[in-house]
Amino acid sequence: MHPRHLISVRDLDVATITSIFEAATALGAMAPEDRSRILRGRLLTVLFFQPSTRTRIGFESAGLKLGATVSGFSDPSTTRSVDYIGESLEDTIRVIAELGDMIVLRHFVSGAARHAAAVSSVPVINGGDGTNEHPTQALSDAWTMANRLGSVEGAVVGIVGDPGTRVHRSLIQILALLGVAKILLLVPPSAPLRIGGSMGITHCTVPADIVATLKAAKVPYEFCSDVRDMLAEADAIEMMPVSIPGLESDPRSLSKGENVTPEQYRVTAQKIRATGSRALIMHPGPRSDEMHPDVDDLPNGLFFDQVRDSLQMRMAALTYVCGAGPYSRPS
Ligand code: CP
Repeated sequence: MHPRHLISVRDLDVATITSIFEAATALGAMAPEDRSRILRGRLLTVLFFQPSTRTRIGFESAGLKLGATVSGFSDPSTTRSVDYIGESLEDTIRVIAELGDMIVLRHFVSGAARHAAAVSSVPVINGGDGTNEHPTQALSDAWTMANRLGSVEGAVVGIVGDPGTRVHRSLIQILALLGVAKILLLVPPSAPLRIGGSMGITHCTVPADIVATLKAAKVPYEFCSDVRDMLAEADAIEMMPVSIPGLESDPRSLSKGENVTPEQYRVTAQKIRATGSRALIMHPGPRSDEMHPDVDDLPNGLFFDQVRDSLQMRMAALTYVCGAGPYSRPS
């Protein structure tokens, strides 16, 4: 039997996404003692080749709450992948698959999760690979939207930041599948708009795969030039830092830059009040200065609610790949 992986939202259909949402809800409602039996006796291994706060500790917490034990690394410099041998990702995954029962992998190479899944004898969950995808964060954020809006079908969703970063790429695909009415884009200053004469505004920085996804789903997209316009129209907004280094960079080569977010990208409580916006204000984290912490005091500021929801979603992801809990077959 091939293991069931969770690598890309492209591998999921609407029925599967709906079932994962339902599993997250069911796991949240379950008594802790019942939940803690679901993965008892199994070992979750978390392999993080890039820094993480939410995803790694979220998966570790989810695994522990489901009764699994947890091992792995958050600092790849302690592993044989970075010493004079430079053990390959393929060998690392095959070694870990001999030891544990499921793998959560974060890696700075786009496509690393798919590559890992191809050689793994146990389920692999993509915890973010390069600029490619971050499916569990996107599933969680779409679920947060769906819970609070009733449904994302027919909703107008704003995306602040580069649509080609991994959370946005996964989220836009899920939202397209679930039938949003429109996507609004506020792209980073490093990705300037081009004014295309009588054709209006065109853009060259929305990745071709995202354009293709939106076209196939018949979801229109428009560009905003100021977040206030987005606040006025959107039902939900997912933000990202608009100035970030390449997600495909080895983390050892990076240092913290200055916060330079231009004003038209910054959401504050004052702007939300001034526009009368009731949009859900969301951010997968970590945030820089594009989202002011005073947004947290408003009912539509969901920065920390998203983290709470993500714990249930990561429990759902673990049960999905393991065929356990809500996914166990009747005996
Ligand atoms: N959203 C997200 O991936 O956060 P971390 O980098 O803290 O895991």
